[in-house]
Amino acid sequence: MKTITVALGERAYPIAFCEGLISRAEPAHLEVLLERVGQSVFVVTNSTVAPLFLDGLLSKLSGKKCGYHCLPDGEQFKTLEQVEGIIGQLIEQGFTRDSTMIALGGGVVGDVAGFAAAIFQRGIPIIQIPTTLLSQVDSSVGGKTAVNHPLGKNMLGAFHQPSLVVIDVATLTSLNPREYAAGLAEIVKHAALADSDYFEWLEANIELIIERDLDCLAEMIAKSCQIKAEIVAEDETEQGRRGLLNLGHTFGHAIETLSGYGQVLHGEAVAIGLLMAADYSVRAGYIAQTVKTRLHALLSGFGLPVVAPPSLPVDLFKAAMARDKKATQAGMKLIVLQALGKAEILEDVDPAVLDETLADWLL
Ligand code: NAD
Ligand code: GLY
Repeated sequence: MKTITVALGERAYPIAFCEGLISRAEPAHLEVLLERVGQSVFVVTNSTVAPLFLDGLLSKLSGKKCGYHCLPDGEQFKTLEQVEGIIGQLIEQGFTRDSTMIALGGGVVGDVAGFAAAIFQRGIPIIQIPTTLLSQVDSSVGGKTAVNHPLGKNMLGAFHQPSLVVIDVATLTSLNPREYAAGLAEIVKHAALADSDYFEWLEANIELIIERDLDCLAEMIAKSCQIKAEIVAEDETEQGRRGLLNLGHTFGHAIETLSGYGQVLHGEAVAIGLLMAADYSVRAGYIAQTVKTRLHALLSGFGLPVVAPPSLPVDLFKAAMARDKKATQAGMKLIVLQALGKAEILEDVDPAVLDETLADWLL
């Protein structure tokens, strides 16, 4: 079994690749899971994922005290109210500080359950079992947990590292094409900010990736997890370099907030945001137009949107960008590209270049 370690000292944890763990009856990889859960386990999932994988998971936890809670499906339910619902169930079903939570689902389940685990009785361990491409390559790794506020994406949250991430690549076969493509946006982001060879590999393997060839997927997911694990190990709480993982996100979060959560998928907003960040980088003279062109070709080749949704007013967009979590009292920060495979955190955003970029994208 392949594993990647997120090297965080005494809080280090493995990302374990266990094809078949929950998607098929495959007992071989159980040890990795069982050795990390105590005697009581509470699974948080949602109404779409539960019928697919919940029984498979619970059957492998037999002999333990097990409970579960199903969230409604959708980004619009990534709320404090759902966190309270989970905590109510934990209390009513008799779970305690020595219980382990498992998040079974995509990034929404992972973020909501992760936040509930971070605050229930001041924190209980969580194991992430991500079942979307986006959550396998990004949200399950690194310990960021959050829920949304009507005024801003991920405004309420905590850092709470999982004790284990279990990736069963075969779960991705049931994902719908739009959600699958959304995950590819974060993968393109990893390549664009950290590794031009990886970007070329994505360009060369576009057909196998779209076909969801499982060997190709396993290689790609491991590569993205490796990039993310290295950055998180270096800067766990985003004092510096981890901010690079937000490439495209200041624009993307504004799109999500203004469109209404769940209308434009997070990964779709990131795809558009990546291109807007690349556009800013071209206009500011950091990168050549060819970098933006390759980014555009790869994202559209993966079936991702490459234009902003209509009717997003520039003034509201700028206000949403200014409120984004990356902003400090000193003002907005943007992640820009310096080359393909190299990004930088820009503290002094040029207002004229930003205005030109927004004027071009928000019609
Ligand atoms: P999601 O959790 O909404 O899942 C997408 C859809 O796929 C949902 O309808 C879900 O029920 C369904 N689904 C899940 N697994 C499935 C499967 N195997 N087969 C069929 N359907 C399945 O969306 P997502 O893209 O996984 O995650 C997006 C969220 O992640 C956003 O809220 C975003 O802010 C967050 N995020 C967090 C981090 C982080 O570091 N914590 C990083 C990136 C994104
Ligand atoms: N998704 C950005 C981060 O984990 O830092």
